[in-house]
Amino acid sequence: MKILVHFELGRFDAATLLQKLRGKRMVFVGDSLNRNQFVSLVCMVDSSIPPTLKSLQFNGNLIIFKAIEYNASIEFYWSPLLVESNTDDPINHRVEERIAKLDSIEKHAKHWIDAEVLVFDSYIWWLRPKMKVLWGSFGRSDGIYEEMERLKSYEMALNTWANWLTTHVDRDRTRLFFMSLSPMHRRAEDWGMDANDSCYNETDPIYEENYWGSLSNVSMMGVVESTIQDLNNKGLNIQLLNITQLSEYRKDGHPSIYRKQWVNLTEEQLANPKSYADCGHWCLPGVPDTWNQILFAYMFHSH
Ligand SMILES: *[C@@H]1O[C@H](CO)[C@@H](O)[C@H](O)[C@H]1NC(C)=O
Ligand SMILES: *[C@@H]1O[C@H](CO)[C@@H](O)[C@H](O)[C@H]1NC(C)=O
Ligand SMILES: *[C@@H]1O[C@H](CO)[C@@H](O)[C@H](O)[C@H]1NC(C)=O
Ligand SMILES: *[C@@H]1O[C@H](CO)[C@@H](O)[C@H](O)[C@H]1NC(C)=O
Ligand SMILES: *[C@@H]1O[C@H](CO)[C@@H](O)[C@H](O)[C@H]1NC(C)=O
Ligand SMILES: *[C@@H]1O[C@H](CO)[C@@H](O)[C@H](O)[C@H]1NC(C)=O
Repeated sequence: MKILVHFELGRFDAATLLQKLRGKRMVFVGDSLNRNQFVSLVCMVDSSIPPTLKSLQFNGNLIIFKAIEYNASIEFYWSPLLVESNTDDPINHRVEERIAKLDSIEKHAKHWIDAEVLVFDSYIWWLRPKMKVLWGSFGRSDGIYEEMERLKSYEMALNTWANWLTTHVDRDRTRLFFMSLSPMHRRAEDWGMDANDSCYNETDPIYEENYWGSLSNVSMMGVVESTIQDLNNKGLNIQLLNITQLSEYRKDGHPSIYRKQWVNLTEEQLANPKSYADCGHWCLPGVPDTWNQILFAYMFHSH
């Protein structure tokens, strides 16, 4: 049985949020979709803070936005699999083969465990059919490698994350959130267009009610749901923000070809823009602002 709680989505108010975060840290932890949401939130509060009273700092895996007058920080911590992996470098993480240490999270967690508000996500980096798993340490010859089916590896990583929270988080002080998966619009056949098309050149949302794209994996969502249910059963309050369905409709909301390219495009790519369109991240202002409005509403809603 699901208990649905309804409440009015209050208007987002930057001053109210900053007041709530006075003397506190709010940290988004996860992959580039979570960074997308972090940037969105920073933009949503930015205009209400005078230039001399804010700062932005890049510090390893952390990006820290500070509202100085409030001694409040809104931060992003890069760890796309949540657990330790060979993709943890915040800049150089495009590796040929992904390797995860499913039982290790401390290296990351020690940087965010004392935050008062934590917002997690992790999905797209798991989408390869198999994950290589390392038992042991990176850079040591006695490590044991294993190929693991993705659902199982995802579940094990989330368990490591959940166990860490259970034993380390201060329940009275920390608010916990997990963002459900952010849909991609790479396969135009999902909405009845040509198989080779993507979100490129899309300017309208999808109007079909309950539209669900083939890249949004329901089994993986189920793993998140049951992990969070377990935590809640153990008395650790964590809120899943289910933003998948509302985002599914917005095939028109991605940066497509209008994004920063990290390497020069080849002639072939330039001749076929669909091939390099980004149909995963979101333009700002845009869909993640809505996620943040929902997050804001939950933050001001009692436990
Ligand atoms: C500022 O906030 C940090 C947490 O981000 C806290 O540790 C520190 O005590 C605060 N400083 C003051 C002067 O309130
Ligand atoms: C979801 O992922 C699981 C695990 O990899 C896979 O078995 C299943 O076919 C996927 N479902 C869809 C609809 O893609
Ligand atoms: C899709 O692209 C491939 C390779 O570029 C091509 O061989 C195929 O005919 C295209 N399919 C459609 C339906 O256009
Ligand atoms: C983009 O969409 C417009 C309007 O639907 C269409 O006229 C145009 O041919 C499309 N361009 C490409 C490159 O598909
Ligand atoms: C999220 O919402 C979708 C669609 O409304 C629903 O099918 C799914 O079960 C929900 N997932 C979770 C984890 O709550
Ligand atoms: C990319 O293209 C620009 C302009 O054509 C050129 O100046 C630059 O050196 C190129 N960068 C690389 C990494 O090839």
